[in-house]
Amino acid sequence: MSAKRETILSGIRPTGRLHYGNYFGAVRHFLRLQEEDKATCYYFIADYHALTTVTDRQDLYGNTVEMLRTYVACGLDPRKSVIYRQSDLPCTAELSLLLGMITNIGLLERGTTYKDKLSKLREDPKAEGNPLSYGLLGYPVLMAADILIVKADIVPVGEDQRQHLEMAIDLATRFNSRFGETFHVPRPISRDALRLPGLDGASKMGKSDHNTLDLLDDPATVLKKIKAVPTTTEPAPLDTDSNDADTVVPKMPSGVGVLYRLLDLLAPREVFLEFLEEYRRGGKFYGNLKKAAAEHCSKFNEPIIARYNDPANSAAAVEEFLRENARRVTPVALETVEAVRAAMGIGHSLYRA
Ligand code: AMP
Ligand code: TRP
Repeated sequence: MSAKRETILSGIRPTGRLHYGNYFGAVRHFLRLQEEDKATCYYFIADYHALTTVTDRQDLYGNTVEMLRTYVACGLDPRKSVIYRQSDLPCTAELSLLLGMITNIGLLERGTTYKDKLSKLREDPKAEGNPLSYGLLGYPVLMAADILIVKADIVPVGEDQRQHLEMAIDLATRFNSRFGETFHVPRPISRDALRLPGLDGASKMGKSDHNTLDLLDDPATVLKKIKAVPTTTEPAPLDTDSNDADTVVPKMPSGVGVLYRLLDLLAPREVFLEFLEEYRRGGKFYGNLKKAAAEHCSKFNEPIIARYNDPANSAAAVEEFLRENARRVTPVALETVEAVRAAMGIGHSLYRA
């Protein structure tokens, strides 16, 4: 008898364009899992979650479609992975409501996303546009619903989402012990935790920090951004013989480190080693280093931009596969919600729109 094929699930908030941090921190892992083909991969756009930080009307639908065109351009394939939109599975909201009935407020108040926002508001009540919402407090419950509704086995998330995943596991386990075995409980997996620094030398590349290199940047933009990376004229000594990027990059001045990290990720090994030798020799080589980094980044972006603009990768094509995949996932999701309704005692729905 063959073992049941496992399900991998990950969600992505529709933040618009994708930058190198997103790619090397998340997207490339999604691609690897898709190509390994050991499990069925579900990737969805968490548009309900995006509403927890919304202050005024934004084109979340437009952002979702744009982002999916970029994902497809990177190699995410709607024929190999099940790619859908959270809000096309509205029974997720029903499951979130049901889970909310057994969720302790104290637990939610310890949630990192909620705590961060609370402390920002305490520092400066006007700092954030939107209030501390019921939706934000319930963020981990909705995330648990996303995970449990498709009976995910494996949920590859970054370090920042680990607590949310643990809450989902905890909720499912407690539900099962109170109402009987209903949920399939996922297991956490670790991901190689590369954190890509920002082009300004900040410890993390992030959209809100305006320090990103984007996958759709054209060669002129790439060059302009890379030229602006702050580099000191005197390189700090490395005090190690290691040629390993993870060892040497943190020892460099932060702006210089970003350039070496980009070479490490994108250029042939010889190029990285040549520039590392230059670094050890000292001297003025930052101009060449920047040129090399920019060339390799542009070369990386080129096919992505081409596939992004491919007429087959249109907004209409994205809408088509979103519709098709929502149709595929709905029966699995409804089966979970119906089982939960039955377990909690309200019984199956008699009619569903
Ligand atoms: P965000 O756009 O910040 O919601 O991030 C989406 C995904 O990209 C998350 O899984 C993050 O872990 C990953 N990510 C974002 N920025 C970086 C970065 N600078 N380095 C590594 N991973 C990142
Ligand atoms: N909260 C995740 C993030 O900010 C996105 C997300 C929502 C998610 N639901 C999920 C991730 C379920 C994994 C599984 O990145």
